Amino acid sequence: MRRSAPTTTPPTTIPITPIVLADAAAVANRVAALLLADRLRPQRPLGLATGRTMAPVYACLAQQLGQLEPPQAARVRDSWCSFNLDEYVGLAPGDPASFAATMARQLVGPLGLAPAQVRLPDGQAADPDAEARRYGAAVAAAGGIGLQLLGLGLNGHVGFNEPPSDPAVACRCVTLSGHTRRQNAGGFGGDCDAVPEQAITLGLAEILSARRVLLVVTGAEKAAILRRALEEPPTADLPASWLQHHPALTVIADADAMG
Ligand code: GLP
Repeated sequence: MRRSAPTTTPPTTIPITPIVLADAAAVANRVAALLLADRLRPQRPLGLATGRTMAPVYACLAQQLGQLEPPQAARVRDSWCSFNLDEYVGLAPGDPASFAATMARQLVGPLGLAPAQVRLPDGQAADPDAEARRYGAAVAAAGGIGLQLLGLGLNGHVGFNEPPSDPAVACRCVTLSGHTRRQNAGGFGGDCDAVPEQAITLGLAEILSARRVLLVVTGAEKAAILRRALEEPPTADLPASWLQHHPALTVIADADAMG
């Protein structure tokens, strides 16, 4: 007797209503306030991102932390635990272009945290694949991510999950596209050949397992990819589109990014 093929219910796509604010400064202010509120009642670690979008967010966060009453500020500092999404392979944490150095400049120093409270993959690990497995396991051992902060790549990547990426991919070592290396050349004196060819990134599996996801997008150059990510049927060719399946996704964008 022939068995009929098992039927699977496709994951639900949830309608998204972005929060649209006037400009990048207003977005940074709102996102920083959400991060701080999360840290005042921390449950699981924060998931953090780097990039031009996040630099003003971390600056606002330091400013808002400085305005808290000392006991509250101490609570945020003492309980801080975060995992960054990604790191370039081959860069030492002391290399100014590494994401570790970026976080040290933009977050650890200004907030007065201990470096060990802000965790990233080790870009210098002798075996990047093993390091990716170790880092993914460290996130899991910490209980998974609570609030995951995400920027958006111009080709639709999140973290360094380049197209094509399906929603089940876990933390791993990836090869960066020419597109992404050009996008990130600014961190390497404008020389895209200096951008490492590989990176370690949390996968969509870890990102989609976060309790809440906060996608932050600013600037007119992201308008087209943001619209596609929110409106087109989810596809591996546009990794950010899988976020439509997340039950607690918040999108905060400026008016330029909303076109
Ligand atoms: C980078 C990072 C992402 C970041 C995104 C957007 O390649 N891996 O985590 O969110 O691209 O960067 P930006 O904010 O500079 O546009």
